Amino acid sequence: MAYKITLIPGDGIGPEVADATVRVLEATGVAIDWEKTELSASIIEKSGTSLPPHVLESIERTGVALKGPVTTPIAGGFKSVNVAIRKQLDLFANVRPVFTLPGLKTRFQDVNIDMVIFRENTEDLYSGLEHEVVKDVVESLKIITRYASIRIARYAFEYAKKNGRRKITAVHKANIMKLSDGLFIRCCREIATEYPEIAYNELIVDNASMQLVMRPETFDVLLLPNLYGDIVSDLAAGLVGGLGVVPGANMGENHAVFEAVHGSAPDIAGHGIANPTALMSSSILMLRHLGEGLAADRLQKALALTFREGTHLTRDLGGSCGTKEFTDAVIKNLV
Ligand code: NAI
Repeated sequence: MAYKITLIPGDGIGPEVADATVRVLEATGVAIDWEKTELSASIIEKSGTSLPPHVLESIERTGVALKGPVTTPIAGGFKSVNVAIRKQLDLFANVRPVFTLPGLKTRFQDVNIDMVIFRENTEDLYSGLEHEVVKDVVESLKIITRYASIRIARYAFEYAKKNGRRKITAVHKANIMKLSDGLFIRCCREIATEYPEIAYNELIVDNASMQLVMRPETFDVLLLPNLYGDIVSDLAAGLVGGLGVVPGANMGENHAVFEAVHGSAPDIAGHGIANPTALMSSSILMLRHLGEGLAADRLQKALALTFREGTHLTRDLGGSCGTKEFTDAVIKNLV
């Protein structure tokens, strides 16, 4: 029986990296019946809602989606569709594994980086509660609840336990935001006591950012509220080759949406040069979620081999190949 999965190519480079990922998934032999769902900035503008019902209905039906990026207007316009999907489907855990790719030349190529970032995905400053108090004075509400903080902390500790991870670092700014980040960190401490086998420490977000650049190999699992998680995961992506290589998953109780960390990259869209590694790696997380561990391992190895060979890399990684040549090389290594 084929898996029924929602495919949202998105816009910008989304359709290019989504096509490439569908091709490698086909090559793994896992039978997938894609429910293709169009979503782009122009569709959202026309529909008048940041989450058109056909998208939500499809993910509710299939339970699993592979999603490309969608452009969000800056400082005005419609609200982020990504935030809307995460909130509507209660995808409370954003999971981003960040690891050194074999053979890839980066500033940190001699360091073995292997961390997983857990970002609370539904509240904090992403609650979208902003208003103008009086002219030229605006207020954004940072919402932190015990419910959501306990839930993400437990999710991260459970993951660490199941996957043999040894240390969790909670990241906060509770020295300044004593109430909101204070609540988050108290919830992390509470859950940490239930997992004595996993080491637990805390870092203030500014110090954590510096430590990540100075000593990235010392980090194992990071646990953060929404905004710090968003920023720190791009920083971490920069340690291992950039946004083109880091995967992501948005996990809820009943639904899962797998998507790359990167956005729609309008600067390179339509040129056939986007790096599809990030969405391909996100699809490996999806295969594991589906219970297709063997196919996931095979695709992971094929990607690793393609990086080790280093002959078909895209331009963002210092290569000269396009999306198609890179994808062909991964498929060749898969076979
Ligand atoms: P971006 O991630 O689209 O691009 C940042 C830089 O990284 C650009 O120079 C781009 O060319 C490069 N880059 C990103 N992905 C790449 C890939 N796969 N291969 C090669 N190079 C790649 O971030 P930016 O420019 O801040 O955002 C553009 C749009 O994307 C915005 O509208 C933003 O809101 C949206 N966005 C959407 C996301 C989503 O749908 N999940 C996530 C992040 C941003």
